[in-house]
Amino acid sequence: MKVDVLLGLQWGDEGKGKVVDVLTPRYDAVARFQGGPNAGHTLEFEGKKYVLRSIPSGIFQHGQVNIIGNGVVLDPVLFQEEAQGLEKSGINLKEILKLSKKVHLIMPTHRLLDAANEKAKGGAKIGTTGKGIGPTYTDKVSRNGIRLGDVFHNFNEKYTNARNRHVAMLESMGETPEFAELEQRWLNAIEYIKGYEIVDSEHLINSMLREGKSILCEGAQGTLLDVDFGSYPFVTSSNTICAGACSGLGVAPNKIGEVFGIFKAYCTRVGSGPFPTELFDETGKRIRDLGHEYGAVTGRERRCGWIDLVALRYSIMINGVTQLIMMKSDVLDDFDEIKACVGYKINGEETRDFPFSIEEGIEPIYVTMPGWKTDMTQFKSESQFPKEFADYIKFLEAELETPITIVSIGPDREQTIERNK
Ligand code: GDP
Ligand code: IMO
Ligand code: MG
Repeated sequence: MKVDVLLGLQWGDEGKGKVVDVLTPRYDAVARFQGGPNAGHTLEFEGKKYVLRSIPSGIFQHGQVNIIGNGVVLDPVLFQEEAQGLEKSGINLKEILKLSKKVHLIMPTHRLLDAANEKAKGGAKIGTTGKGIGPTYTDKVSRNGIRLGDVFHNFNEKYTNARNRHVAMLESMGETPEFAELEQRWLNAIEYIKGYEIVDSEHLINSMLREGKSILCEGAQGTLLDVDFGSYPFVTSSNTICAGACSGLGVAPNKIGEVFGIFKAYCTRVGSGPFPTELFDETGKRIRDLGHEYGAVTGRERRCGWIDLVALRYSIMINGVTQLIMMKSDVLDDFDEIKACVGYKINGEETRDFPFSIEEGIEPIYVTMPGWKTDMTQFKSESQFPKEFADYIKFLEAELETPITIVSIGPDREQTIERNK
């Protein structure tokens, strides 16, 4: 069987958690392959709302195996908080969740380094989530990291060496790190994690595939935050793209089946960095208010703007997207007009290709369409779509050369419409 991948095509927060939950019943397992607690994936059903950070969004269905793959970075303290919260609400997590031995651990000092790096950048800061993501991946790539499997072998020595190295780095940056209390909580959390199944997840996943089982990979962040292809340096520190599922789980490229690319009917971004279609006017504010565009983890205001088809075409190309999923169309239900950026004007020249830099001098070229002015939140099938909305979908499919197979019309699991392919 194949592995399907669901990932964000914009700057994150597209609604990945909701759709992974909706699609989970079709799979035997759900796996996270990159990122860490910088993610905040929201799910709503039966009047309840959950925000998941490190734990995959496939835990609320029918006992599917949920896997935290080797490409993920894990903060034991935040993991413990999240897991205990879920156990309290009746999820038997220890039975369904498996963690890779190769997951890299986020240490308390990684978080301090994240904050110190941001401080040192001053006005040019990335606006990170402050969860220690960058420093942990840096240690991984520079071969200084600690992996979950290490907690069973000479752990104290490995931890102390890494911590002392971080302290020296912090002191050289003029910081006086204090983290004794957090360190104790972190060490206790390591003991807590030992109660979970810590496995060779690459073997587990490949043996499931040999048995004919199916796996859904859950991306975190979005393609425009990818460390190679995103708006560098204003990106996260992992490969958020489809290829990240191969390296982050040990899945060979020829095992990838469907690639679900998920996007909002408009666009948002949280943190610093360029955003060509950002709106600074009342319309942007209106989208933020109607879409409740505030970070699921940090509570930060999300920047809002019109959909950017230049960026989406690029994301579709990089990921080999086979099906598109459009989220939050209901947020635009009451707009008189909807705009979509179909090209960029750079130094007077028009282009449809995403350029090396989107930092400066980009003028979006917009197409304006009539709004549908209809509350769609209770709709059950696409036959109910007003003509203007059906036309908007047709327009997007033509521009993006990819079918939109699912449309989301509200945050609840039930507010999801599958289209006839
Ligand atoms: P993720 O990080 O990609 O999983 O997305 P987030 O959970 O950070 O942000 C998506 C937000 O939009 C959450 O608050 C969801 O509950 C909400 N949401 C998801 N789909 C829809 C939708 O179709 N309509 C509306 N109005 N809200 C949605
Ligand atoms: P989900 O999975 C939106 C952004 C941060 C910052 C940049 C780097 O919920 O879509 P980091 O802490 O990763 O070093 O921050 O990336 N960012 C996200 N933005 N959604 C996310 O995750 C994000 N994870 C990181 O705001 O600009
Ligand atoms: Mg999110």
